[in-house]
Amino acid sequence: MRYDITNIAIEDYLLDLMPPRDAVLTELEERARIRGLSLVGPVQGQFLYLQALNMNARKALEIGITTGYAAMYLLRALKQTGGHLTAIERHADRVQLAEEIIANEGMNEYITICPGDWAELLPTLDQDFDFVFLDVLRSAANEGQAIQALELCVPRLRTGGVLIADNVLCSAQVLELEEDAPPVVRGIQEFNKRLMSHAQLESVIIPLRDGVAICRKK
Ligand SMILES: C[S@@+](CC[C@H](N)C(=O)[O-])C[C@H]1O[C@@H](n2cnc3c(N)ncnc32)[C@H](O)[C@@H]1O
Repeated sequence: MRYDITNIAIEDYLLDLMPPRDAVLTELEERARIRGLSLVGPVQGQFLYLQALNMNARKALEIGITTGYAAMYLLRALKQTGGHLTAIERHADRVQLAEEIIANEGMNEYITICPGDWAELLPTLDQDFDFVFLDVLRSAANEGQAIQALELCVPRLRTGGVLIADNVLCSAQVLELEEDAPPVVRGIQEFNKRLMSHAQLESVIIPLRDGVAICRKK
């Protein structure tokens, strides 16, 4: 049986309430549509913006930047807090495009994009990020690395720092029985259990779009 996370009419209603996006966000949405890229979208983008701004985040990390859509929301918060975004992306063409788009917006001084694989790069990064946005969960779970992603993120956060992970409800497929679930779903189910019982985190999962986990490091 297929389930929805939220009623599609509610999603449309929330989207319709969002103010029109400016030229750069509209262009990124259009490119993503043409290329079939997955982006957080305006409602979740605004959610990330407010989370980063409300906690006055200075050091932020995005794992899986694609062409910079969510990053644009985060950068708009970080510009106000005097912060900086570090981002990771394994596709070189996406890194190049994100860099061009962000430079055109005059935001390049607020970001450092690290090309490569998160599994190799995360251990090399600082350990005092205020805010980490993990947006590679589906691919990590598919590759059997979901728990590793979580366990590499937690040490990167300062005490009181916030980790946000996307796609934790995986199109509602997390409702499937674990033994019958495909690897990506089973990986996300295991990730959610670990996250909700993690000794260093206080967490909640909210059914926003594909499911968002918000965790605070104790
Ligand atoms: C869901 S998209 C991110 C969308 C982006 N956060 C946004 O909303 O604008 C995931 C991105 O993570 C990248 N990615 C997946 N696995 C990765 C890995 N092992 N290391 C680095 N990047 C990876 C993919 O290439 C893809 O661009």
